[in-house]
Amino acid sequence: MPAPLPVVRTVAELRAQVAAWRSSGERIGLVPTMGALHEGHLSLVELARGQAARVIASVFVNPTQFGPNEDFDAYPRGEARDAALLAGAGCDLLYAPTADEMYPQGFATTINISGVSEPLDGAARPGHFAGVATVVTKLLTQTAPDVAVFGEKDYQQLLVIRRLARDLDLPVEIVGAPTARAPDGLALSSRNAYLSAAAREVAPALHAALRDAVARLAEGKTVEQVELTGRAALERAGFGPIDYFEVRNAETLRRFEGARPDGPVRLLAAARLGRTRLIDNIAG
Ligand code: PAF
Repeated sequence: MPAPLPVVRTVAELRAQVAAWRSSGERIGLVPTMGALHEGHLSLVELARGQAARVIASVFVNPTQFGPNEDFDAYPRGEARDAALLAGAGCDLLYAPTADEMYPQGFATTINISGVSEPLDGAARPGHFAGVATVVTKLLTQTAPDVAVFGEKDYQQLLVIRRLARDLDLPVEIVGAPTARAPDGLALSSRNAYLSAAAREVAPALHAALRDAVARLAEGKTVEQVELTGRAALERAGFGPIDYFEVRNAETLRRFEGARPDGPVRLLAAARLGRTRLIDNIAG
């Protein structure tokens, strides 16, 4: 059994540990999470381990990225289980700050990113990316890692974080990790725990619809045809409402102006299945 994972809860403790590792010339990797860990998170830790001598995982369920009617209170939490999984994956330190440590009395700063954070989840979840960008900026400045790893499962989030790291001159390499999937294609997500047994049977239809859409684009169908067919497939499977099923430029998340893509393609979808909101995306 791996040794219990050391846990720090304050920025001062975190920085003291990072400084000690740095003084011995060690590269530091950070894997930010909201806990409720699964194999997808552990694959991020593994990727970070390949790029850094020391890996820190943060677990913080960030209240500012949840809307008023979203699942902040219900979000699954379990630090002991998370810490055991992280220790088993070879993580060196867990940073688990309290909300007061992250947002002390008088906290008044929000990072807003225009452009890439505006469509898709930015439109469906107002304020979400400002919450993500603010907490990730704090995690990156608190930890000052050489490399930070984020999953492509939250593809728009990854682009938002790349943008903020560039714009704020943060000296960190942002690495995107491929989406971990169940054998039936469902993207691993902490929110999959909300799915009923019946909904879990239907859920892989989201990934199947995206794959089908990639094939249709390759056959020469227009963006509009592909999006309409994708939405119809999700409705037939039992999803609804559908927030989006879209073909976008993979770098800017802008729509293509012509009927067919003329740049790198990412297909992204978000839809409810019962009370669970699922998102997924794939390269086109
Ligand atoms: O992807 C997540 O788990 C969260 O959005 C993140 C990046 C840890 C910020 O709270």
